[in-house]
Order: sequence, then structure tokens, then C-alpha cells
Amino acid sequence: MTPTLETRLYEAVARVRRHWRGTRLMDGLEPGVEGTQALLDVARIYRANRLEIGRMRPLLGRAVAGLFFDPSLRTHTSMEVATGRCGAHFVYLQGGEGTWKMEFDDGVVMNGNTAEHVKEAAPVLSSYADILAVRAFPRAHNRDETVIRAFAKYAGAPLINLESALAHPCQGLADMLTMADLGGGNFQGRKIALTWAPHPKPLPQAVPLSVVRAAILGGADLHVACPEGFDLDAEEMERVHGFAADTGAKLTLTRDQASATEGALAVYAKGWAANDREQHAELAARYGDWTVGDAAMKSATAFLHCLPVRRNVIVTDSVLDGPKSRVIPQAANREPVQAAVMLSWLL
Ligand code: CP
Repeated sequence: MTPTLETRLYEAVARVRRHWRGTRLMDGLEPGVEGTQALLDVARIYRANRLEIGRMRPLLGRAVAGLFFDPSLRTHTSMEVATGRCGAHFVYLQGGEGTWKMEFDDGVVMNGNTAEHVKEAAPVLSSYADILAVRAFPRAHNRDETVIRAFAKYAGAPLINLESALAHPCQGLADMLTMADLGGGNFQGRKIALTWAPHPKPLPQAVPLSVVRAAILGGADLHVACPEGFDLDAEEMERVHGFAADTGAKLTLTRDQASATEGALAVYAKGWAANDREQHAELAARYGDWTVGDAAMKSATAFLHCLPVRRNVIVTDSVLDGPKSRVIPQAANREPVQAAVMLSWLL
């Protein structure tokens, strides 16, 4: 007898829990290799049956609070839609605008413009919501990740990092699902290119580091290309490289975009800040020819970007509007992976 959708969903969630009992998704490495694959299986079940799951409402009566200190189109919408489809209630909170301006430092005399300390805010929100989800990159280059780490410390509820200075784990999970789709189920041993591309703003490394984590967890032959002065965070690269022994992933760092992209299953473009941020504008202008165009995509299968993307700066119109662009299904994969995390914690 074919198992029902409910049975398949419960069994898939049970597989996640066998590998991952944690209640913090901070950088995306927490579920480990098997736990991540199990999460992707839950996401695939959700993706293939989302209307039926919407009717099942498996998380009826639950609540998720999403606190956004920064703007969002995809993350906010996909979280709210996934929560609603699962039957739970989503509360959108705009950090510092619709809520009280929050204090994160210890021992502060709060007679300035901060009105509420995270030490109260995080447990109060945890008393209402079954999951907290926080986007906080206002201190974008703050390696200490003050905001999300404070929530991790003081929240009693499970916590999803919706993007901080060094990590965007839900984007990483969606990218894994997208790359696995491109590879016909997985991308183990397949060449994935992550290339720096020009951007006028000195953006944090959250997305490129999450792409690296996703590619290593999935066992890719990962090629990371960037000009001199744009190296990814050495400590984070070292940490994720520890997983390569388990997955068979290979990592090549290069200054040559052409060799990185040649024959790649996916070319993932992203802009990030120069290591010396004072020099970002000058260096980004100097490397204007790193914009991903038809030449870089000639022998590659697909183009990926997390969005939003600056047309004809990061990537040309012809690539983005062309048949190799997979950015829309990539963005669509945000909903099922986030649903998978919430179901794995709350079902
Ligand atoms: N990729 C992504 O996180 O998009 P938003 O910033 O619009 O949420």
C-alpha cells in the first residue's frame, strides 16, 4: 500500500530528527551532512504537495514571529507563505521601526534612544511564538553578529537566522535544493562555480559563505573565483572545509573567472565587499569586467543568484533573461526549505 502524504511527511521529519536535534539554524552547518539531506527530502515532499499540505494544516495552532531589521522581498514572503500553508500564524515585526528600538550591549545605561533590551525582547517573543526568525545585518560586517547571537542566547524558542553578517542558511538550503535539481537529484562531484561580481555597495559575505557551505555539504567540486582583495573569510572557509572529508567535496580558489566557470553545472554570481572596505568602490570599478556575461556562461549549464540582482552590473541582461538563468526557481525553493525546517521542529 502506498503510504499517505501524512505518513511520508512524518517519516521524513523523523529522519531529520535522527540526525539533528538542535533548535538553532544559525549558519546552516548545524544539521550536518545527513540532517541536511533529510531536510531537503522534507522540502521535496512539501514542494510536490504544497496545496494538499495547505489543506492538512499540519502546524495548526502554532505561531512564528519574524523580526526583520532589514528589508526583504523573498525571505519575508516565503516565510509568511510557508508558515500559513502549514497552518501556523506568522507575525511580521519590523525591528527598530514597528517595534521598540532594541539594545544589545550588556551593562548599558539605557537613557539614550534604545527602549527595550534583547534580554527581555527575546524571551517575551518566545513566550508567544513557537519559532523566532530574525534577519539582522544592520551591522553587516560585524563578525560577532551581535544581533542574531543575542537572540540565540536569550530566546527560549527555536531560532532561524534569516540572514546575518556571515550566514544566510535558508538561502543556502534553497541553493542546495536548486543545485540538486540541476544535477538530477544531487550535485556530488559536479562542478559548481561561485564567482565574485561587481557591486557598488560593500555587501557582507553571508550569501557567498552560505553558497560555499551548501556546495561543500552537497559534495560539489567547488571553484570560487574572486579578484585579489576580495577573499572570503578565512576562518569560515576553514570551518566549512572540515565537512569536505565526509562529502568528498573539493575546493579550488582562483583569480580566474573563466577557468572557474568553464563547464560548470551552475555559475553562482554574487558581489561582496573588498577586504579593505575603504577601497571597495575603487576595486569594484577596477574589476568591472567580472560582470557575468555570455562568455562566462558559454559552457556552463545554469546561472544562479540569490536576488535581488543588479542587472548589467552583476550579470548581463542576456544571461539573466536567457535560457540558462534559473534564478526564479531558485527563489521559489526558499518556501519549501523553510517549511522543512519549521515542520522538522514543530510537527
Ligand atoms: N535572497 C533574499 O534573501 O532575498 P530578500 O533579501 O529579498 O529576502
